[in-house]
Amino acid sequence: MKAPVKPAIEETGDAMTRRRVLSWLSGFGLFGSLIVTVFSNLIFIKPRATYGQPNRFSIGKAEDFPSGARISLDARRVCVVREGDKIAAISTTCTHLGCIVSVSETGFSCPCHGSRYDQDGTVTGGPAPRALPWYQVTLAPNGDVVIDKDTEIEAGNYLRV
Ligand code: FES
Repeated sequence: MKAPVKPAIEETGDAMTRRRVLSWLSGFGLFGSLIVTVFSNLIFIKPRATYGQPNRFSIGKAEDFPSGARISLDARRVCVVREGDKIAAISTTCTHLGCIVSVSETGFSCPCHGSRYDQDGTVTGGPAPRALPWYQVTLAPNGDVVIDKDTEIEAGNYLRV
């Protein structure tokens, strides 16, 4: 008579518990790695670039700038110049190393290394290598004055408003 064959691993209560624990752990590991993979792919897909302010923007109505005004919009790094019925925009970024120039009695002055510019942005002193650029100014259909910092124009070109 043959003796009953014993299974290689006895399926006792302890063995089943260990097997279940190992199954749960491997399942949990697979699920966790799936979550990490999905999460890291979503982070990778989403662009991390931050976009600055647009270079073409409205500054409101021309009437907001009285004749003779030289108003520096530091956040935009531009100075709005209004003379009579003409308006223009001059960069306030120093052409030396990029500091913001301030409006002065004689034009513009840079606090960083002392460059000075006249009312039109032409260099009158200091290390600045070139004049402050003028930007194109247009009127939007709703009458707003729009400055386009991507388009430099020749100094002295005003927009009639
Ligand atoms: S950054 Fe203006 S003078 Fe140097």
